[in-house]
Amino acid sequence: MKRTHHCGELNESFVGKEVILNGWVNKWRDHGGLIFIDLRDRHGLTQVVFNPQVNQKTYEKAKNLRTEDVVAVKGIVQKRPPEAINKKLHTGAIEVHVHELEILNKAKTTPFEINDQIEVSEEIRLKYRYLDLRRSRLQKNLITRSNVYKLVRDFYHEHDFVEIETPFLMKSTPEGARDFLVPSRNFPGRFYALPQSPQTYKQLLMIAGFERYFQIVKCFRDEDLRKDRQPEFTQIDVEMSFVDENDVIDISSRLVQKLFKEIVDFDIPMPIRRMSYREAFETYGNDKPDLRFGMPIITLNEIFAQSDFKVFRSAIEQEGRVAAIAVRPADKFSRKKIDALSDRAKELGAKGLAYLIYKDGAFKGSVAKFISEAEREALIQKMELGDNSLILIVADSYDVTYSVLGQLRLEIGQELGLMPSDKFEFVWIVDFPLLEFSEEENRYVARHHPFTSPKPEHLSLLDSHPEKVLARAYDLVVNGSEIAGGSIRNHQRSLQEKMFEILKIGKKEAETKFGFLLEALEYGAPPHGGIAFGLDRLVMILTGAESIRDVIAFPKTSSALSLMDGAPSEVSPEQLAELKIKVETKRVND
Ligand code: AMO
Ligand code: AMP
Repeated sequence: MKRTHHCGELNESFVGKEVILNGWVNKWRDHGGLIFIDLRDRHGLTQVVFNPQVNQKTYEKAKNLRTEDVVAVKGIVQKRPPEAINKKLHTGAIEVHVHELEILNKAKTTPFEINDQIEVSEEIRLKYRYLDLRRSRLQKNLITRSNVYKLVRDFYHEHDFVEIETPFLMKSTPEGARDFLVPSRNFPGRFYALPQSPQTYKQLLMIAGFERYFQIVKCFRDEDLRKDRQPEFTQIDVEMSFVDENDVIDISSRLVQKLFKEIVDFDIPMPIRRMSYREAFETYGNDKPDLRFGMPIITLNEIFAQSDFKVFRSAIEQEGRVAAIAVRPADKFSRKKIDALSDRAKELGAKGLAYLIYKDGAFKGSVAKFISEAEREALIQKMELGDNSLILIVADSYDVTYSVLGQLRLEIGQELGLMPSDKFEFVWIVDFPLLEFSEEENRYVARHHPFTSPKPEHLSLLDSHPEKVLARAYDLVVNGSEIAGGSIRNHQRSLQEKMFEILKIGKKEAETKFGFLLEALEYGAPPHGGIAFGLDRLVMILTGAESIRDVIAFPKTSSALSLMDGAPSEVSPEQLAELKIKVETKRVND
């Protein structure tokens, strides 16, 4: 019995028609003499009725149905009695009175009910991912993801981009994370790396003259996983020739404008605002500010330079910062809560957290006694304090002060419900430092990647003050999540070599690792630049998903395991012998 309609389709206009439906038994109930099932397929639910008076044999057969059995039913569409109408369902006004039932496959009792409301441990969900994916929320997420692919492809094709695939088996590209390696059978002892991104290939495609490239592509990074990271994830990867920062920012803004309009009917006001890295860090404590709410960090060095409170004064003398956020209403914060915030600040690396409560024109709190009348006035003005404000102050080094306050701001914002998932605040972060000093490696490393170009007006600082050089790089942030990042590249060999030199990548090492790219830069490389969107993160935001795993069909756990098939797994001694690989750790089953 092949279906004539799907389960989300039928309504009153079909009454009297004979139809065949295929699907899963979503719910089964026996109502004294009548059996009802909700039949489910990808498109929805339809109520199906088995009545002994319609067909005794079919009715008897239906008695044995259980949830998740796969069936085909043939019957007549009927109007439901008025009291049984379900306005929430498209099919809620009808039911199908069945005279023929075929059981296509029986189902064992599933380890959990297929229902969005059921709370199931992530371990069980991932082990039985194919059942988890039957739930409507995950179905919706993956269908949205599919719509995103189509919109993205259409958009770039309309804008004259060429879609080109690049290899998965490649030479390792350094982008900060560890590579996943694949051993070569033909060349024992040699390895391919899975791409952390197609960065070098897309630059070579510009040198090859394609001018506008894009690809929806898997990237692999063996890094510690966090909430919005996966070891394999998907990028929308883009590169363009003869462009500057504004061109890439402009076309990328238009892509997100289209996606948010089509998928969640949200109008992103254009142009998307821009903020320097420095402003973001000094006002929100990180490079991906969540602008759904205010509570900015205010620097108070000027006010407290002569403070009686030694902690403040000495932080300023040591070129650190005194800064604060103000939260209202203060009476939401008990003493116990404030103490907990102080503990949290210490956990985050601050030496302490001072606080003041400004209420009815007076200041109270841990440092009130140290604050002069003039400082009070200045504080009210500078922080634009309203009555009933709690002021949380950190005095520490530049990095610690801002990052701790930034994190507290987020946690308080979360707690006060200031981050609704249907509000979207976009910002381009620009003017990133090109380099950052790695204490661990005792050298400068590229903040973005080594192919990013410095601002031309900062070239002269490269040798004398590398820390002051800004990059031609940009990140797109929405609601505190970095959804895209890119840059204008070094298209001249000399500048690229200079970068390697600053990064302490020796001539020989550069030649071995990137010789092919350096050489290519000498054969007429056009000026070029690009960007990559994190597609999974983008879909997370579009669907309001809380975890990146909820927008990926078969994700890994936070320890990079696939619980369903058990990857990574051991391989046979024959496979290892072929690769000339000897495993030194004890095998799990030995
Ligand atoms: P970048 O490393 O910033 O840039 O990556 C681009 C975007 O990819 C997403 N992303 C991730 N998503 C999920 N899991 C991960 N582990 C993960 N890592 C990154 C982020 C990020 O903004 N080749 C450059 C791009 C360029 O310069 O054009 C690159 O890969 O949303
Ligand atoms: P104390 O004088 O040590 O009792 O500290 C007075 C208040 O200042 C307490 O609330 C401390 O938590 C706070 N405090 C101490 N060190 C710092 C700091 N570096 N930044 C902000 N507040 C601090």
